[in-house]
Amino acid sequence: MIAPPGAGKGTQGALIAAHFDVPHIATGDLLRDHVARQTDLGRAVRQHLERGELVPDEIVLDMVREAAVAAKAAGGGYVLDGVPRNMTQARALYLMGRELGMTAHVALHLAADDRELMRRLLARAALEGRSDDTEEVIRQRLKLYHDVTHPIVSWYGERGILLSVDAMRPVEQVAREILTALEAMRPVVDHVPEEEGRAIDFASLGVAFGHATSAASPSG
Ligand code: AP5
Ligand code: MG
Repeated sequence: MIAPPGAGKGTQGALIAAHFDVPHIATGDLLRDHVARQTDLGRAVRQHLERGELVPDEIVLDMVREAAVAAKAAGGGYVLDGVPRNMTQARALYLMGRELGMTAHVALHLAADDRELMRRLLARAALEGRSDDTEEVIRQRLKLYHDVTHPIVSWYGERGILLSVDAMRPVEQVAREILTALEAMRPVVDHVPEEEGRAIDFASLGVAFGHATSAASPSG
């Protein structure tokens, strides 16, 4: 899933995972769990989360690899929420998927406008008190999404696996559209062996970002 903060990755991700009985791997949740448990990793990333900045790619990718290996052992399906967030992660994730035989079948994009996203996250702040749900930090998260993450969406379009859904509607309507689309795609997806999937030309990933090489991660 690639979507801005507040679009419903967590909400819809949980519903998709329950529907297909697969793990919901959410990088933000995993990172917040480390912060709460005050692990070394948690101490290293806490400030990034509080400021609405990306944590270093290698930290996220190691976490995702561990979760992906576990998902593979449990049957191979998964819902990934919160990653990739930049070009470096998109590329690394694809290579990891090839290596493990579990590249993404669908890239789900949830579309919603910034005003609505701000409204939802400020409403959530009152209930959950997430440290990054302040107006200033939400603005930073939205900016980072538009600058660095959203450009990846068109690359998935070029790969032919993009499913883009209007997430401005009520949760149930959004969920119905997503699950209907995923169920409709299922027979095709189930019958394409992993090794016959079209290999990715990384040049096109550069094009999606308007340049060929720079890995636009503000955190390095
Ligand atoms: P992460 O936890 O991924 O946060 P986010 O992307 O900012 O997204 P949110 O979790 O806030 O929103 P959501 O899309 O899950 O929406 P939700 O369903 O909760 O990342 C947090 C931080 O971790 C990052 O800033 C970064 O520091 C770090 N990080 C994570 N991944 C990283 C990576 N790959 N690389 C580097 N750093 C990384 O819904 C929001 C609210 O709206 C809820 O209250 C919900 O009930 C409500 N809602 C949902 N859908 C609807 C609807 N249709 N109508 C009305 N309300 C709705
Ligand atoms: Mg979330």
